[in-house]
Amino acid sequence: MQKIRKCVIPAAGMGTRFLPATKALPKEMFPIVDKPVMQLLVEEAIAAGCEEIIIVTGRSKRAIEDHFDSNPELEQRLDNSWKFDYLRKVKNLNEMANIVYVRQPYPKWDGDAILRTKNLIWDEPFLVLFWDDIIDNEVCAAQQLIEKHEETNAPVIATVWVEEREVSSYGMLEWECSGNTTKVTRFIEKPRPSETDSRTAVIGKYVLTPDMFAYLESASSSVWDWEIRLADAFISMLQDRDIYGLEVEWTRYDTGDKVWYLKACIAYAMKDETLKHDLQDFIKTL
Ligand code: G1P
Repeated sequence: MQKIRKCVIPAAGMGTRFLPATKALPKEMFPIVDKPVMQLLVEEAIAAGCEEIIIVTGRSKRAIEDHFDSNPELEQRLDNSWKFDYLRKVKNLNEMANIVYVRQPYPKWDGDAILRTKNLIWDEPFLVLFWDDIIDNEVCAAQQLIEKHEETNAPVIATVWVEEREVSSYGMLEWECSGNTTKVTRFIEKPRPSETDSRTAVIGKYVLTPDMFAYLESASSSVWDWEIRLADAFISMLQDRDIYGLEVEWTRYDTGDKVWYLKACIAYAMKDETLKHDLQDFIKTL
C-alpha cells in the first residue's frame, strides 16, 4: 500500500460571500486569531504525514504564496529587535513543507481544480482538503481519513451528521455498515430533504485514489459550461468500486460561512490564556 504523501488544497474560488473583504484579499488568508485559515489546513496535512502540499490557486491569490515564502527584510528586522518568538513563527512558515502551486484559470469547480494536479500526483492516493473546513481536534480529521484508507485501500469521504434543513446544502451519503466500516451505497449532491432519509453529509475532506482522475475527465459537463464537479465523478466511480464514508470526530467550523467563521475566531481565541478573559468580559457586555 502506498503511503499518502501529497495533499491537494483547492483555493481558487472567489469568496463571493465575504465581499467586499475578498475583493483583494484571498478568503483563505482570513485569520483565525493570528493564523490564516490556509495555514491551519497546511498544518493539518503535515500532521497527517503529508510532505508535499499542492495548492490550486487563481488570480489575486498571490498572498497565499507570499505567506509561505521567506521575507528576508522582515526576518532581519525581527532579529535586530530581538523578537525571536515572532521570528521563529515567521521562519517556520518557509520550512513547513514543500508547497507547489497550480493555477486554475477559470472557476470551473472543485473537480477541475483537482484534475489540474494530475501530473503532480500521477499514480498515488492523495489527500484533498477544501479550504473552508477547519478542525479543532487532537487527532486531525485528515489523519482519521488516512487511517481508514490504509484499512480499506479505497477512497474515503469525511462526513458529519446534519439537521434535515441542512441536507440541501451538502453532498449526502447513503451507506451500509459492515463491521466498523461504512460503505457508501449512494451519493446525492445537494438533494431536497424529501429525496433521501440520510443525514450523513459530505464535508470538504477526502482521500482520493488516482483512478479518480479518469472519472473527473469524463465528468466534464457541457450543461454546466464544461465545469467538472467532484460529486459527479464520485457518483460514476461508485458504480465501479467501493467508496467509504467516515464520520470524523472533531469540532468543525465552516469558515466559508460568516457566522461559523466568527465562531471559529472566538473559539480559537478562547483557547489562548492571554486573550480569553478580556474576550469573555467583553462578550458579557454585548
Ligand atoms: C461541495 C461539494 C459537496 C460537499 C461540500 C462540503 O459543495 O460539492 O458535496 O458537501 O462541498 O463543504 P460546495 O460547498 O462547494 O457548494
